[in-house]
Amino acid sequence: MSKSYNVAILGATGAVGRRMIEQLAQSTINVKSLKLLASSRSAGTKLEFKGQALTVEETTPDSFNGIDLVLSSAGGSVSKKFLPEAVKRGAVCVDNTSAFRMEEDVPLVVPEVNPDALKGHHGIIANPNCSTIQMMMALEPVRRKFGLKQIIVSTYQAASGAGQSALNEMKQEAQDFLDGKDMQADARILPTKGDKKHYPLAFNLLPQIDVLEDSGYSHEEWKMIHETKKIMLGDMNSDKIKVTATCVRVPVPIAHGESIYFMVEDTSATAQDIMQVVADFPGNVLEDDIKHQIYPQPINAVGKRETFVGRIRPDYENAGAFNMWVVSDNLLKGAAWNTVEIAEYLDKMDLLHQ
Ligand code: A2P
Repeated sequence: MSKSYNVAILGATGAVGRRMIEQLAQSTINVKSLKLLASSRSAGTKLEFKGQALTVEETTPDSFNGIDLVLSSAGGSVSKKFLPEAVKRGAVCVDNTSAFRMEEDVPLVVPEVNPDALKGHHGIIANPNCSTIQMMMALEPVRRKFGLKQIIVSTYQAASGAGQSALNEMKQEAQDFLDGKDMQADARILPTKGDKKHYPLAFNLLPQIDVLEDSGYSHEEWKMIHETKKIMLGDMNSDKIKVTATCVRVPVPIAHGESIYFMVEDTSATAQDIMQVVADFPGNVLEDDIKHQIYPQPINAVGKRETFVGRIRPDYENAGAFNMWVVSDNLLKGAAWNTVEIAEYLDKMDLLHQ
């Protein structure tokens, strides 16, 4: 008989939180009780779990009394405030924010890629950035078989990655544009809540995700570079794989796209070999049939747990270099599903305790 757990979802009313409820309901985790937590704004809201209406509660440190497992996605500052309180009370927390990702004793995990990192947890496990996760799914099988020297990635990231309010904002802008109104007036959130200027996303492209740093990179780009090194090599500053990134927000509601250029160590690898290892990796779906115009598209990935990979082709001017196109639902594998999947692994590995 598998163990059963008292679970709390922090940020349960958000775009990711709602999907955590859904993914938890479909998971192998035996849920003894579920507590839905958010801010005072949505306390009293009813949400459904396995056909049962549960009432959302305002989060306080004591909300975590008696909780075994916390799944959290309420923003970095909320995680910083409440997760240490949850850990103090004996819970194991899987956090979808960037609050703890780079702390040395916090595992940063994509279960198919580096499950053994979970063994070193001290109560908090970090879920990587959504764009990093789908890139790891596509490239880890390549790294294992052929070695990886360099990654150059450009992202096409969906509005929902910035939360439900960003998605609502983009929809309103699109409506205003179609009605012939000024859509600039609606921009209050994107490119990022934490910056001074705001621009419309509908019918536009924003080459800024998260805040811009003095280095010239956005924080999202910084995350992709250093999270890749921590997940694949166990060291966020390793120089064994060179990584660079350009992150762009696109007017797509759900599912990120990524154009990835990568160089392998074994220059005898062919595009067919790359397709084979990608297709064999659990959690991936190869959609690569150019004769029949088959390639991954965001509208087809919505609601799916898998990572879709296609357009795999060699750079004919550089031996050992390839291009690929990767799409995944940023709210599922990029967030809610990867978080719940980590919890499933913790349960199976008997690590759901401090
Ligand atoms: P609320 O609905 O009360 O605002 P998203 O990423 O889609 O914007 O969702 C953010 C989630 O984080 C929501 O569930 C939101 O709850 C929750 N949240 C925001 N601030 C707090 C806070 N101070 N304490 C607890 N939950 C919070």
